[in-house]
Amino acid sequence: MRIYKVGGAVRDRLLGKPVTDIDWVVVGATTEEMLAKGFRPVGADFPVFLHPKSGEEYALARTERKSGRGYGGFTFHASTEVTLEEDLIRRDLTINAMAEDDQQNLTDPYHGQRDLEARLLRHVSPAFAEDPLRVLRVARFAARYATLGFTVAPETLALMHQLSESGELEALTPERSWKEISRALMEDQPQVFVEVLRACGALKVLMPEVDALFGVPQPPAHHPEIDTGAHTLSVLQQAALHKQPLTVRWACLLHDLGKGLTPEDEWPRHIAHEFKGLKLIKAVNERFKVPKDCQELALLVAEYHTHGHRALELKPSTLLELLQSFDIYRRPQRFEEFIAACEMDARGRKGLEERSYPQADYLRGAATAARSVAVQPLLEKGLKGPELGEEIKRERLKALKAYKEATSV
Ligand code: CTP
Repeated sequence: MRIYKVGGAVRDRLLGKPVTDIDWVVVGATTEEMLAKGFRPVGADFPVFLHPKSGEEYALARTERKSGRGYGGFTFHASTEVTLEEDLIRRDLTINAMAEDDQQNLTDPYHGQRDLEARLLRHVSPAFAEDPLRVLRVARFAARYATLGFTVAPETLALMHQLSESGELEALTPERSWKEISRALMEDQPQVFVEVLRACGALKVLMPEVDALFGVPQPPAHHPEIDTGAHTLSVLQQAALHKQPLTVRWACLLHDLGKGLTPEDEWPRHIAHEFKGLKLIKAVNERFKVPKDCQELALLVAEYHTHGHRALELKPSTLLELLQSFDIYRRPQRFEEFIAACEMDARGRKGLEERSYPQADYLRGAATAARSVAVQPLLEKGLKGPELGEEIKRERLKALKAYKEATSV
């Protein structure tokens, strides 16, 4: 049996990047031999094992044949006869199809090293099409390595186009798609992920609601970039620049979906886009079984982001309604994330990236004022139930009025 390091570990070492996960491929071994050495099988039919000590993944060299649609449709052929080259040719990208032995001797039959130097994401062979998830993977790698100058090879983009049109992307499970989407959003240049998906026609299939924003104009006075799609990408880019968490990045991507529903004769204004977008956001959230915290923040940011921008002009009563909607008393972090998303939205406008956003501190101050109302004295007065609720609200409103007066010059 011969064992090689493969995939991301080889690629990232050659790129001079830190290697976190190591995948291994085993040539010339049987399942029985692996079990006898103490490796633990990962799944019943899947020829992948975990090392008894390191826990790293060891896969038997295999070829794959497709027998049906979607991930469940795979059959694997692993045998002692399958060579390293046969295993590597069925992988996604040439830069992921290199192997290294324990002496760091490189096996690179499909010229991954050449493509690393040329900064090209290129598929290895037509077997790329065996797993449509690779369309999302390539877009994710493009987002990760954009800073290094990587682009998608034209022939790979063409193949991704074919896959997007074939209906195969619809067969992906929500879990697999979300894993790629969420990882891509956390890369340094998440907007490149969306751009690549759009360039190959996959955005139209996966998130038509986002695709629809391209070509929709906004008022140039507020949005010098004009195009709503371009704005969305800039907001996402700002979120990455400011190291925002996944919840905020997801909310940034979806905050303006309602603008895609505006009738053309109303352009470039988008009356009530905050509400119109909510049903679209719910649909996207459900499509990918998005985690609850991301779902919630995306809906709240869409509904209230214009309130955020107008924070300094809001009446105390409207300010209170905003704070209550966020349940700032029990969910302080969610309100911070809302403020961050609003700021990214304001900065994601052409030429306004560096402009200060005083609304952020104003909103924080308002939250502090509302929270400063002590409940204990009201309880001591004997108030309870709805009466207590009303009194707390009145006190908070008073606190916000005082806050507004104190901060206005
Ligand atoms: N692979 C593939 N097709 C997939 C998934 C994985 O060809 N749909 C292959 C690639 O050779 C990849 C390797 O399996 O390099 C390991 O996959 P994975 O751990 O998912 O990705 P990495 O390339 O290690 O990348 P990352 O740094 O994102 O983990």
